[in-house]
Amino acid sequence: MKTLIIYAHPDTGGHCAEILNNVIASLKEIETDIVLLNLYKMKYDPLLHEKEHYTRGNYTISKQNKEIQKQITNADKLIFIYPVWWNSMPAIMKGFIDRVFTSKFAFEFVNGYPKGLLKGRKAAVFITSGANNFMSCLFMGKRAAKIMKKDILQYCGIKTKVFQYGGALNFDDSSKQKIEKLVKKGLSWLY
Ligand SMILES: Cc1cc2nc3c(=O)[nH]c(=O)nc-3n(C[C@H](O)[C@H](O)[C@H](O)COP(=O)(O)O)c2cc1C
Repeated sequence: MKTLIIYAHPDTGGHCAEILNNVIASLKEIETDIVLLNLYKMKYDPLLHEKEHYTRGNYTISKQNKEIQKQITNADKLIFIYPVWWNSMPAIMKGFIDRVFTSKFAFEFVNGYPKGLLKGRKAAVFITSGANNFMSCLFMGKRAAKIMKKDILQYCGIKTKVFQYGGALNFDDSSKQKIEKLVKKGLSWLY
């Protein structure tokens, strides 16, 4: 069993970092090979370049992104961890998806209909937000969660569930306890 973790946060402390630490500690107890892509630490280039612009017929994929696509192909579980920024995701995560989840790798069109090519995989998405979960639902229609789940991962055929830590304002001991519970819940769904 192989697990690929994609982490997008510039900080080494705080809610997302705590989620990452919890996930890694818990995965050590599960028989799974782990690969961590820490996008900020890698200084991942989020810019989709002209030669990669597949809707214009340009299908070049960088050596780094080919390697990442291979890691996705080999993984049966994916874990995404990032904060909600502007009801969406950090730009570095969006750029990662633009450049890695490419046409003919992650999806294709058959008779005009999109077909996901990454079936057979499951993804747990851990997001944190300043707004609490009730507000995210009432005023935002869970937009941040839906973008990743429905518009991106399920579009590519990946079975997905989002685990949101709302009200991520002050990081303290009670946040640590709540995060531990959330990670447990997420991983028991994933494995
Ligand atoms: C650029 C930026 C945009 C943000 N946009 C939102 C938002 O749209 N909705 C929200 O609930 N919180 C928003 N926040 C708050 C973050 O989601 C919150 O600070 C983060 O999830 C806390 O996790 P952390 O301790 O790992 O940073 C934003 C924060 C930043 C820095």
